[in-house]
Amino acid sequence: MGAPPPLAPAGGGVGGAARRRGGRLGGGGRRRHGGSPLRPPRPAHRPLRHRRRRARLRLVGGAPRHRGPRHGRAPGRVAAEPRGADPGDEHCRRGHRLRSSGDTRGRGSGVRCHPHCRGGGRAGGAPRPGRPDSPDAVTTVADLLELAASRLSTRPGGPSPRAEGRFLLARLLGRDESWLLAHGDAAVSAEEAARYHAWVERRAAGEPAHYIVGTCPFWGREFVVTPAALIPRPETELIVQFLLASPPPRGARILDVGTGSGCLAVTLALELPGSPVVATDRSLPALALARHNARRHTAPLHLVLADLGGPLAGGWGVVTANLPYIPTAALATLPPEVRYFEPPVALDGGADGLAVVLALLDDLPRLLAAGGTALVELGEGQADRAAAHARHRGLEEAGRLRDAAGVERVLVLRRPR
Ligand SMILES: C[S@@+](CC[C@H](N)C(=O)[O-])C[C@H]1O[C@@H](n2cnc3c(N)ncnc32)[C@H](O)[C@@H]1O
Repeated sequence: MGAPPPLAPAGGGVGGAARRRGGRLGGGGRRRHGGSPLRPPRPAHRPLRHRRRRARLRLVGGAPRHRGPRHGRAPGRVAAEPRGADPGDEHCRRGHRLRSSGDTRGRGSGVRCHPHCRGGGRAGGAPRPGRPDSPDAVTTVADLLELAASRLSTRPGGPSPRAEGRFLLARLLGRDESWLLAHGDAAVSAEEAARYHAWVERRAAGEPAHYIVGTCPFWGREFVVTPAALIPRPETELIVQFLLASPPPRGARILDVGTGSGCLAVTLALELPGSPVVATDRSLPALALARHNARRHTAPLHLVLADLGGPLAGGWGVVTANLPYIPTAALATLPPEVRYFEPPVALDGGADGLAVVLALLDDLPRLLAAGGTALVELGEGQADRAAAHARHRGLEEAGRLRDAAGVERVLVLRRPR
């Protein structure tokens, strides 16, 4: 996992700009160093009609052991003055920064304001754009993007501050980023500008962009994300891609262990409507989020509070799992946006990173039906050890799925018939 997902521009998702969990800590991989793409792959199939059954949350077993997310976030605050603004900037009477048109020939001085502005020419001391204390003030898309570019800093391997600023503003205004680029002169209300300032400040304080905007794409659908669960990563889409290319027999039951936001379970429930899906998590807040996402997408999903698949009977045709796999000691080296904002229960894989994964492998021969398949996401360099452990438990290795960076990301296991 790496830095959370913001903005690896396009091409993310499977085969796209993957962020890495473990291993690649620099610049935003999850792995959990990395995050989700801005433009994830479209679903391989159009979502099919499905039953409008409500996702149910069933409590099985003991009390949750979830310690809850670490709330390291710095409180968002509204910037009174955009940092990076040049105090010598000139402004019109309504407070808009006057910009050179780049053409000083012909009319006027080549200094212009945006077309919606009725403020006239320069006016020293006019209100600054979008200040919350001047409710009628307006500013422009271009002004806000400039502000974000100067306020947000460049991170190695991360998206540019301009890309981050565009991502946030597009979400806030409900527009495409291409629209922003084509409408730099469009007016933005003072209220929207104030919200944008607050978002930029939260981002500058390290909060992942997807937590700020509240959603993250996964397999072409938007999932609500909160600090209760890991932000979905594009490499996890490898599991969906595999199962759509090699679907289980119709009616085979699917178990998603450690479902988090529910991104994987909801996607499989919608893309493989012939297969009932059950999802577990040991975190009650994560399960509540998964339930919300299941309802949002009207996915028939059964949710169970459980330690791995412990309380469930066997006979599963497919088991999927993206469990924590970061070694405890490496947590401190994760990018701040992962370390301080994403829940430790989603990251901490114990001393060698494999404690939770190996515990699941121990139980797989019981959980899987004969001939059943398990897909287990791993950190970089963990596949050999996990595969050896699985073989020792009588499972066959059926393959390894590599992510866009060539990392063996998902181990495919089969229980012999
Ligand atoms: C890395 S997150 C992945 C979430 C989701 N599957 C995804 O791909 O975005 C791991 C999830 O496993 C859950 N988890 C950790 N240990 C668990 C356990 N022993 N039993 C069940 N769930 C567990 C965490 O609460 C977290 O939601």
